[in-house]
Parts: sequence; structure tokens; C-alpha cells
Amino acid sequence: MRHPNNREDKKVRVLFVCLGNICRSPAAEGIMKQLVEDNELQDFIEVESAGTSGWHEGDLPDERMRAHGAKRDYDFNSRARQLRKSDLDRFDYIIVMDNSNYTNVKSLASTKEQLDKIYMMTDFSQLYRHDQVPDPYYGGASGFELVLDLLEDATEGLLQAIKEKHTFTY
Ligand code: 4NP
Repeated sequence: MRHPNNREDKKVRVLFVCLGNICRSPAAEGIMKQLVEDNELQDFIEVESAGTSGWHEGDLPDERMRAHGAKRDYDFNSRARQLRKSDLDRFDYIIVMDNSNYTNVKSLASTKEQLDKIYMMTDFSQLYRHDQVPDPYYGGASGFELVLDLLEDATEGLLQAIKEKHTFTY
């Protein structure tokens, strides 16, 4: 049996979700992981990402997203996977990028507890007033830059919100 104070049990688990899990959510995952490390909270906060579709299962993030991320010193290197119903129990924050993701994730939820974990990424924006993180897949370079700007802003707000809600002590 696990010790009741085992850190694993107290971990806050964050899952970012988009459609393909190759552009927006792996970028959010990489940015949030960097921020968590910068705040020395990697033992307390776990970060992953998933797609509502399984179209790109096993793939690295889109080359364009990797290149735009690299210009900001990020290495987006997660492998795409499809969201599963059990994620709604395993994670504490399920953070979606747009309204379509929201509808799709919501349709997997069967309890109020699961529903209450679903947030829009832009709920945590500090500087930006966008109400969604737009899909950059069929657009140009500026779309990828906008996604990174929105994500860098909102991950800061998210970490702030997590720090206000949870206490992290060894
Ligand atoms: P993402 O972008 O949801 O941010 O990963 C997309 C990736 C792939 C596709 C659409 C959006 N697709 O149509 O394959």
C-alpha cells in the first residue's frame, strides 16, 4: 500500500487537448513543462497532451510547430496519442484549445466531477483576449506564432491558478 503522504498521490496532473495532438497541445505541454521546471515544481505537477482524434497516433509534433518552438528554445518532442475516457479520471485539469475540442471532450464525460475538470486554455489568458487557441494546421507561419504567444501567456496564468489552489511541500 502507498504511504498516505506519497508525493505521487498529491501530484497535480494536467492534460492539454487539441484535435490532432501534433500542433497546439504538444506545444502547450512543452511550454508548461519548461515553466514547471523553471519553478522547480516538476515533482509536483505532471504534464501530458492528447488529441480528440487518433489521426496522428505515435507521430512527433508537426515540423512547423517544432521549428517555431525551436526559435523560442523549446524542444517539442512528445508522441501523439488519442484522448481516452480514463484520462478524465487520471487528470485534474483537462485543458482544451477550442470550442470543438470542448464539445468532444465533454461528450466523453459521464460525471459532474469529470465535467468540472474541463477548461478552455484561454480561461487562463492574462494578456490576450482570444476566446480560443485557433487551429494553425491549414494556415501559415503567423498562425503558429500566434498559438505560441497565446500558450506562453495562458500557461503562466494556469501555473498561477494551480499555485493558488494547491500547496506544494516535500
Ligand atoms: P492540432 O492541429 O489539433 O493543433 O494538433 C491539427 C493537426 C492535424 C489536423 C488538424 C489540426 N489534421 O486535420 O490532420
